[in-house]
Amino acid sequence: MDHATPSRTALRVALRRAAHQLYDGQPLVLDDPIAVPILGKEFLSELHKTTTKLEKPFSSALRAFLVARSRYAEDMLSIAVAQGVTQYIILGAGLDTFAYRNPHPGIHVFEVDHPATQRWKRELLEASRIPVSSNLTFVPVDFEHQTLPEQLLAAGLNTSAPSFFAWLGVVPYLTLEAFRSTVRYIATRPANSGLVLDYAQPRSALPRLEQLAHDSLAARVKLAGEPFQLFFTPREVATELSDFYNLEDLGSPEINARYFDSRTDNLRLLGSAGRLISAWL
Ligand SMILES: C[S@@+](CC[C@H](N)C(=O)[O-])C[C@H]1O[C@@H](n2cnc3c(N)ncnc32)[C@H](O)[C@@H]1O
Repeated sequence: MDHATPSRTALRVALRRAAHQLYDGQPLVLDDPIAVPILGKEFLSELHKTTTKLEKPFSSALRAFLVARSRYAEDMLSIAVAQGVTQYIILGAGLDTFAYRNPHPGIHVFEVDHPATQRWKRELLEASRIPVSSNLTFVPVDFEHQTLPEQLLAAGLNTSAPSFFAWLGVVPYLTLEAFRSTVRYIATRPANSGLVLDYAQPRSALPRLEQLAHDSLAARVKLAGEPFQLFFTPREVATELSDFYNLEDLGSPEINARYFDSRTDNLRLLGSAGRLISAWL
């Protein structure tokens, strides 16, 4: 990521979550009343201009994946809360809105993000008059150049209490080294801590048609200044997460079965590129 510029891909995914609120049928997979207001007028008008694209299969399948991954993280967080977790750490938070509609009174949220993206998010929150609760702490961190443990400690994380981590839409943009150092840190959290992340399979593991979809998306994020650089097969990611227990690794069929099967519209995942994982300590 460019040091001074907020993440363009954070805006792109937030626009798709907002489109889900406005244009997809009920019931919503991710019911997020802050997804639209956080964008403010300027970015919402961008969304209204592009509604004809929403029905295209690639666009609709990508939107399905993005709303499903946020929903999955929040579902897994509810399990963690039931097991006594009181700290939720959102790594690469972008315009994630969980902290502004947090239904768990006992949970403290730490939003970790690249300083430029976080600054921009705080401006958007202020412009749209979205209240920031005292149960939220912003933690500016560049994963490539700063150490997460020190920054979280300085931000007041209780390191002897279990935490739940969400790492959505970030892993493909990292170097292997940055990915591994964060995984190592999470793996040393107390028992009952957990993690949700999404990852993308390498081009070579995809069927021919999906390779074309991969190329198109990769070209777009590269143009946005945030090229994809890290891919895993399910077997590789399981090896990376070998310090964790109860790995659940979901592909499109499992995600569709869980969140999309009873829908009457066409919203559902296609292909096999993106996957979701939860893992526990
Ligand atoms: C595609 S966005 C996803 C945002 C959010 N998790 C969501 O699902 O809406 C990628 C996020 O990763 C963050 N990111 C990318 N590289 C980073 C780095 N080196 N350090 C910190 N954050 C980074 C960006 O700032 C951005 O918020």
